[in-house]
Order: sequence, then structure tokens, then C-alpha cells
Amino acid sequence: MSDKIILTAENIYKSYQTTKSVKLDVLKSVSISVPENKISVIVGASGAGKSTLLHILGGLDRPDNGTVLFNDKNIYDLSDDKLARFRNENIGFVFQFHHLLPEFTALENVSIPQMISGKTFDAAKKYSMQLLEAVGLSDRINHKPAELSGGEQQRVAVARALSNDPSIILADEPTGNLDTANSDILSKIIVDLKEKFQKTFVIVTHNFDLAKVADSTFEMKDGVIINRD
Ligand SMILES: Nc1ncnc2c1ncn2[C@@H]1O[C@H](COP(=O)(O)OP(=O)(O)OP(=O)(O)O)[C@@H](O)[C@H]1O
Ligand SMILES: [Mg+2]
Repeated sequence: MSDKIILTAENIYKSYQTTKSVKLDVLKSVSISVPENKISVIVGASGAGKSTLLHILGGLDRPDNGTVLFNDKNIYDLSDDKLARFRNENIGFVFQFHHLLPEFTALENVSIPQMISGKTFDAAKKYSMQLLEAVGLSDRINHKPAELSGGEQQRVAVARALSNDPSIILADEPTGNLDTANSDILSKIIVDLKEKFQKTFVIVTHNFDLAKVADSTFEMKDGVIINRD
């Protein structure tokens, strides 16, 4: 298996001016390399800067300083429009709350991003069925979010993150709302997706079972990475 680095953040700084006189340094010269087709996990106490880093890695939030290289190009050299296109084509996001569209079925929720990218519903549906099968929901495709359990909703959110076939999936506390059994199912699915669909995952989590599936682990404290494993 290759040890190619797919995404590199170098010397990232981010601070927030909370009041006129108070500046909060949230990320202080953070550098991180994300290996392709692996699961990288970021752990650390609340407020350490994990979500901020994840957003910067995914092109959601510009750093004050530093670069994020994808295929040797700094994504923050791109205009906002091009950055949005980069995100749509290359990055899938999963959050703690699933943010599924309540009036649409699981199949439709997974298909909509593909249709926005120009696929017909029939073409989108075919791929969505494969994704929903991969997350163990073949028999729930016509359920709306309210007709699914919390664990199932989150699995639909994961399938949706893969909808446009991004190479990288960034997940922020994807098991934050799940019990142990459902966290365990989701952890196994993530490993499965990595292998079956050749995906790269970067996951922020407090969940021990999910952290266990990591190929690399980064520990953050007060805006710096204090451990790499
Ligand atoms: N938009 C913002 N404006 C001001 N401060 C912010 C902003 N976003 C985050 N912060 C602060 O930056 C610090 C890091 O936040 P971040 O969300 O990255 O932490 P985290 O490690 O993800 O924590 P948690 O585990 O609680 O989710 C926190 O102290 C937070 O209060
Ligand atoms: Mg967070």
C-alpha cells in the first residue's frame, strides 16, 4: 500500500479577535501530513483547536498564515469560488449532527449532491444504492430521516459524504451522538469504506473505539500538536 501524502498543512496559524484587546491564538504553527487511503484521527481536550484545524484542512476556513497543500498546490491560493469547487470535488464532510434534509428519503439525501453536480437522478440513484449498501442500509433507502434510528441517520450522512466520490472525508465527532453499539458499527463501516472505496479519512473524535481504528493519531493541546503516533 502506498504511503503517499494526500494533504499537507504547514505552519498553520489561526487566531480570533474576541474583543478589541483580546486575541485568542487557536492554532500555533500546526503542521500535519495526511497519508492517502488511511484513517487519521485527531484527539485532544475541548478547545484544543481540533475542529478549527479540520475546517482549515477541508478548505472551509482560511488560516491567518500557513499553507494547505493538495497535490502540491496551496488550496488557499484559490479564489473563494474555486475553493468551493475544490471542496465539492475533493472533500466529503461528516459532522456530529447529521444535517440530513428531513423531507427527503435516504436515497434522495445521498443522491442530491450528485444531481447538483450534474448527474441525472437515475445515474445518481445507482451510485447512492451502492453507498447505502456499503453502510448497511439497503433495506432503508426509502426511509426519511425521522423514520431512521440515530445510528442509521449517521450512516446515511456518511454515505452522503461519499456521494461525489471525494478522495478525502473529514469527520468531526461522527459518533458524538451515538451509543457504544452504534459507534462500533460506524467505526467498522469507516474501515470498510477506506478499503472498498479507497478513501482517506481524517476524524476528530473523543470516542475510544473509533480512535482505535486509526492508522495515525495526532494529539492536540492548546493549539499545537503534542503527539504523533
Ligand atoms: N469563530 C470563533 N470565534 C472566536 N473563538 C473561536 C471561534 N471558533 C472557535 N473559537 C475558539 O477556539 C478554540 C478552539 O476551538 P475548536 O472548536 O477548534 O476546539 P475543539 O478542539 O474542536 O473543541 P471541542 O472538542 O469542544 O469541539 C476554542 O477556545 C474556541 O472557543
Ligand atoms: Mg470541535
